[in-house]
Amino acid sequence: MQWTILGAGAVGSLFATHLQRSGQKVNLLDTRQPHRQQAKPMLLEQLDGSICMCELDCIGYQDLAQIGCLLVTTKVWQVTHALQPLVGLLPESCPIVLLHNGMGTAEWLTEHFPHNPLLAGVTSCGALKTDASHIKHTGFGETWLGALNAAGEQWQTLVSPLADALGHAAWSEHIQERQWQKLVVNAVINPLTAVYNQQSGILLQHQDEIAALCLELRPLLLQQGLTNTANEWQELVLQVVDRTAKNYSSMQQDIANRRRTEIDYITGYLLQQAEQNGLELPQHRALYLKIKALESQFVTA
Ligand code: PAF
Repeated sequence: MQWTILGAGAVGSLFATHLQRSGQKVNLLDTRQPHRQQAKPMLLEQLDGSICMCELDCIGYQDLAQIGCLLVTTKVWQVTHALQPLVGLLPESCPIVLLHNGMGTAEWLTEHFPHNPLLAGVTSCGALKTDASHIKHTGFGETWLGALNAAGEQWQTLVSPLADALGHAAWSEHIQERQWQKLVVNAVINPLTAVYNQQSGILLQHQDEIAALCLELRPLLLQQGLTNTANEWQELVLQVVDRTAKNYSSMQQDIANRRRTEIDYITGYLLQQAEQNGLELPQHRALYLKIKALESQFVTA
């Protein structure tokens, strides 16, 4: 199997280096380039502190024969732009796996790659990219894959090499439910930590806010068939806060580094879904507006 990673950020680099170390063929795709570039050296700092060196081939969007299973690990707002050069070129047999925070890209993908096997992945692996060629594995996590269309169902075989590489990977028949669970966690932790400009552990001091945000989401989640009580949602969020207490969330880092955030595909997606279902989410909307105000200091619309 040839694995092709689109988006060598923290999660993409973590998957690329671990897959390569477990003996899989891996390359990085840059769809801004038509052809192969110089291979990229990458230093992986493992959970036990040991360091290993990887070298990853870099290909362009016209190197179609070198594109295998395509793992999309860009920031969510980059997905459509990054995949656009492959529309009409990517062989229809090539599976595409979306593995990013937030939701709302699957519709575009289904429209533009209607025949490809489409899958979604949800991972809780912790990773930090300290510079362009240094990736640190910061926490063991679970990775779940599931199909977004009928052709995707044929690709359960992807799970085993991922499990060998990462220590855990499994197939889910309910991947959309897992995506929604991750969405809830991200919608609470990411904007709050970005507003407080602190590590995730700070939220242990703001449990009332977590409770209120979870309670407000309950009617929308029920409409999506997710029957957890507000307390159970709060528990789920607190477990992740606890497990990642010393980490900076991706949104805190985006704001601190003056980068565009994923808020439109996390809270923005929830607000859109709520509106379509005749619901209001005033506290989530207030958080959304705070992040947009912070973002507007450095991102122009
Ligand atoms: O986006 C993130 O940073 C992570 O998904 C999480 C778990 C919310 C915080 O570490």
